[in-house]
Amino acid sequence: EAVRREFSPGLAGVPAARSSISFVNGETGLLEYRGIRIEELAEHSSFLETTYLLLYDRLPDQTELDRFTSDVTQHRRIKYRITDLIKCLPEQGHPMDALQAAVAALGMFYPARHVLDPQVQYWSAVRLIAKMPTIVAAYHRLRRGDEQVQPRDDLDHAGNFLYMLTETVPDPLIAKMLDTCLILHAEHTMNASTFSGMVTASTLADPYTVVSSAIGTLKGPLHGGAAQETVDMLEEIGSVDHVRPYIMQRLAAKQKLMGFGHRIYKVKDPRAIILQKLAQRLLAESWRSPLYKLAEEVERVGEELLAGKGIHANVDFYSGVLYKTMGLDEDFFTCVFAMARVSGWLAHWLEQIKDNKLFRPDQIYDGPHGRGYVPIERRP
Ligand code: SDX
Repeated sequence: EAVRREFSPGLAGVPAARSSISFVNGETGLLEYRGIRIEELAEHSSFLETTYLLLYDRLPDQTELDRFTSDVTQHRRIKYRITDLIKCLPEQGHPMDALQAAVAALGMFYPARHVLDPQVQYWSAVRLIAKMPTIVAAYHRLRRGDEQVQPRDDLDHAGNFLYMLTETVPDPLIAKMLDTCLILHAEHTMNASTFSGMVTASTLADPYTVVSSAIGTLKGPLHGGAAQETVDMLEEIGSVDHVRPYIMQRLAAKQKLMGFGHRIYKVKDPRAIILQKLAQRLLAESWRSPLYKLAEEVERVGEELLAGKGIHANVDFYSGVLYKTMGLDEDFFTCVFAMARVSGWLAHWLEQIKDNKLFRPDQIYDGPHGRGYVPIERRP
């Protein structure tokens, strides 16, 4: 008989799983992937190496890393019929909807019913990690009326994504920075999109369906959509001297400051600290970033007004500023988040199906009992 637990809105504080993939200490601002601090990985690792660590609980040796990198590189292309599907989608739609539609369709070409088969697990993971950037870049090009750009095998994961967006080989500094952003966004314990994917995974649905569930959840402005909302907010503020009145008015209207606050972190998100440093690095390299100074002032005033409630800048506060400086369209920010978090979603999928239990929580019923059916002619 399941132990009945106290109800907690949004399951705040309620453990939904046992996991060894990542760990967060919200009081000290610590984030570890498989026990390795995020600062170490951001400094020394690559997105594909970090993905391997998340999936297999250890850093790969050179042979393993070369093999994994080669497998992902070889599987970047998407079928013409997926491109045709993307071509049919409305230009003014949200890129996350295009991504979700195409990922669900992917699963129709690569049946993955036997989710416990290690071969199915490996190749589904490889295909999703490899093809999501291609889908995102394809929608970006096709919705503007440009031709899709095919992946280049000689470019790394982040560099190839930027190449497929622009058809030009990216500045190595920008490619490296985007790769670091992917590392920072790859995994974060029981966040809403990971939990959503796990609920789907617990029914033994295939991994493409699991990831399309998670994509849908990540889209929301309170979760992955916050980076775009933050940049929209910064552009709405417009200038440094508007910051304080804007924030005061927004908070007085009980509207959240986008890019601020977190269910777990009660200090500045360690990822925001690293992202801010990357943005400063771009400025130092004389990349134009008109929003950065504005963001710094918003953070200063936001801290002044909200730090007392344990509300600080989170991962989405500077990520949008950085992506905008790199030349990414605002409505693509969440897709970049999804291309990274797919590694965390897959790591939790693999961990969970080894010892699966269908998610089916209980509820506290507040409704009536024993009401009679009233024929329509006798209803008030
Ligand atoms: C991500 O979970 C994860 O790990 C997510 C993520 C990941 O890596 O997967 O870290 C990525 O989604 C980061 C969060 C991005 N979202 C935003 O930046 C949107 C703005 N943030 C808020 O919506 C909010 O902080 C949440 C949703 C992130 C967390 O909210 P909670 O834990 O549900 O807390 P709450 O909304 O109940 O707020 C508690 C109090 C409230 O005040 P009271 O009504 O009790 O007086 O804090 C206030 C809130 O009003 N508050 C804020 C605020 N966030 C919380 N007030 C102003 N601005 C904010 N941003």
